[in-house]
Amino acid sequence: MADKYDLVYQESVSNPSAFWLKAAQNIDWIKEPKIGHDGNAWFPDGELNTCYNAIDRHVEAGRGNSVALIYDSPVTNTVKKYSFFDLLERVSKTAGMLASNGVKKGDRVIIYMPMVPEAIFAMLACARLGAIHSVVFGGFAPAELAKRIDDAKPTLILTASCGIEPGRLVEYKPLLDNARHLAVHKVDKAIVLQREVHPAHLDAQNDLNWAHEYNKAAPHNCVTVKSTDPLYILYTSGTTGIPKGVVRDNGGHAVALNWSMENVYGMQPNEAFWAASDIGWVVGHSYIVYGPLIRGCTTIVFEGKPVGTPNAGTFWRIIRDYNVDVFFTAPTAIRAVRRDDPEGSFIANEGIGKLRALFLAGERADPETVKWAQENLKKPVIDHWWQTEIGWPAMATCLGLGRTETLAGSAGHPVPGFIIKVLDEDHNELAADEIGEIAIKMPMPPGCLPTLWQRHDHFVASYLERHPGFYTAGDAGTIDTNGRVHVMSRIDDIINVAGHRLSTGQMEQVVAQHPAVAECAVIGVPDELKGEHPLAFVVLKNGHYVEPGVLVHELIAAVRKEIGPVAAFKDAHVVEKLPKTRSGKILRATMRKIASGENVPVPPTIEDPDALRYIKEAMGHEY
Ligand code: COA
Ligand code: AMP
Repeated sequence: MADKYDLVYQESVSNPSAFWLKAAQNIDWIKEPKIGHDGNAWFPDGELNTCYNAIDRHVEAGRGNSVALIYDSPVTNTVKKYSFFDLLERVSKTAGMLASNGVKKGDRVIIYMPMVPEAIFAMLACARLGAIHSVVFGGFAPAELAKRIDDAKPTLILTASCGIEPGRLVEYKPLLDNARHLAVHKVDKAIVLQREVHPAHLDAQNDLNWAHEYNKAAPHNCVTVKSTDPLYILYTSGTTGIPKGVVRDNGGHAVALNWSMENVYGMQPNEAFWAASDIGWVVGHSYIVYGPLIRGCTTIVFEGKPVGTPNAGTFWRIIRDYNVDVFFTAPTAIRAVRRDDPEGSFIANEGIGKLRALFLAGERADPETVKWAQENLKKPVIDHWWQTEIGWPAMATCLGLGRTETLAGSAGHPVPGFIIKVLDEDHNELAADEIGEIAIKMPMPPGCLPTLWQRHDHFVASYLERHPGFYTAGDAGTIDTNGRVHVMSRIDDIINVAGHRLSTGQMEQVVAQHPAVAECAVIGVPDELKGEHPLAFVVLKNGHYVEPGVLVHELIAAVRKEIGPVAAFKDAHVVEKLPKTRSGKILRATMRKIASGENVPVPPTIEDPDALRYIKEAMGHEY
């Protein structure tokens, strides 16, 4: 018998425009849209302000005293709570600070900051002004920040004096200075949040002190924007060294996130939602900042790690102390907790308060991890799938639509609005359980990327040309006979390290620049904690000898310098030859299998079978 999910799904695909116009009624519009999708965009005739929907409307509805944001920072021993009133004051003054420093509607603002409340105020302040924020994750190196500066061409950059990683401080100011030096686009000003633990030296000409600017700013009101105006740009790894600037619109985004909070996550206003991620990633944008606040929930901003700050009980302490209703994290974080607390004794001792469910995304949730969490939490553990480009879940078990039953290894059913198919290379739909490319029928529902920043051609070429009429997600998988989707791997060179999306092609570009390296291949190999980690195989130039230990050290330093610590690049092997086809294509998939310990037959296309032996020997396998 059809349940609520089935009925809602059918409604969403039989008349998408009517379905999403109905969902749009839960958003406060300055000009309410009358058109759903016009063949080009969602809600093209609507006007609104996203920040108004995240803050002001809750205050105006008499909910100003409800807690909007809880900042918990075990690394600085700080807890702060902000009501919607507090948020309104902080965000409208931050918007005033930006405006008085020249930021206008449509301008870009780069935010390169740790997980502190001011970073969230800044994102919302940009939304308030109709400016476009672009948050850059703190684990990226100056060269990556410079690429984003050159692409987004910001008017202003916001940063903090430091971030706090276990065992070390991340000094943002020197990183920013270096990036400003590398970037072609010159940004005159940066506003620096001075943190007590480690204030930065400010350059009188270019740097402004956040507290001074904030204190003298006047509150700024919400600016009306078109539904289709960009809210933010978020850069993500592509298959080249140039990051893709994923654009998010205002109206579709607000509608989709609000709908997903209720129907995917089952959240009601005033309940507490915690996404233990970072604002540098899409999870942070959608489910630390915009989703919970637009829905009127409490959001948790956590500056810490799943383990070591101070222990594997931190997640459960926060969930219990702040009455978290639904929790979202990456499988890697649960693996880290499980490694330190295999018996789940922190869960047993601390309790989990009123937690209803744990959602996992960012990488494949391995059944062992799901099982451990289910057994210890005794609550639904829901794997769900999405990407930076899509912005909110496309496959899930929709708790808010009454579904709780999951199948370990599957990311669930298509979420209402998404028509998901598995296609072969010739665009044919594959039968149940046959593996192929995951594709989503166009147009996708509201909230998904309308384009890439200033590169619409690249958007079309990257996502829409491979299978006409479909968005190509870049993942491979199957749909089973019950309609559940199983996501298995990427079809490109993207790997997923600790829930972070990285391009091995980009790492190859860095490794290949070493003067002793003739050629190289970087692949992702299984990692018990991080899911995958990058591993390089390098062939030296004729006549070049470098002590392997020294070379590896230099390569690690180069990747860290060019891409950043987030790449988690820690290992390389020197080999005599790389396995290639007769036409010169490196057999990366074969290398991946060998490095994962699989027994691989010699591919018929291989140019020199001996090359396989070098890889096996490097990995310590018998030939
Ligand atoms: N700023 C600066 N550096 C950062 C950073 C940040 N915001 N976040 C991570 N790094 C650095 C780390 O310090 C580490 O540096 P190191 O090589 O000097 O040790 C490096 O980047 C790799 O970090 P990470 O991959 O996170 O590994 P880890 O060993 O420090 O921690 C986990 C492992 C599993 C605890 C951690 O990866 C984690 O919490 N993962 C959850 C991921 C997540 O939330 N993803 C979002 C998608 S839902
Ligand atoms: P990102 O854009 O950083 O969110 O990364 C998106 C990619 O992460 C997807 O294309 C998948 O390859 C992977 N991913 C995210 N969630 C899942 C999941 N639940 N199962 C399998 N892979 C996932």
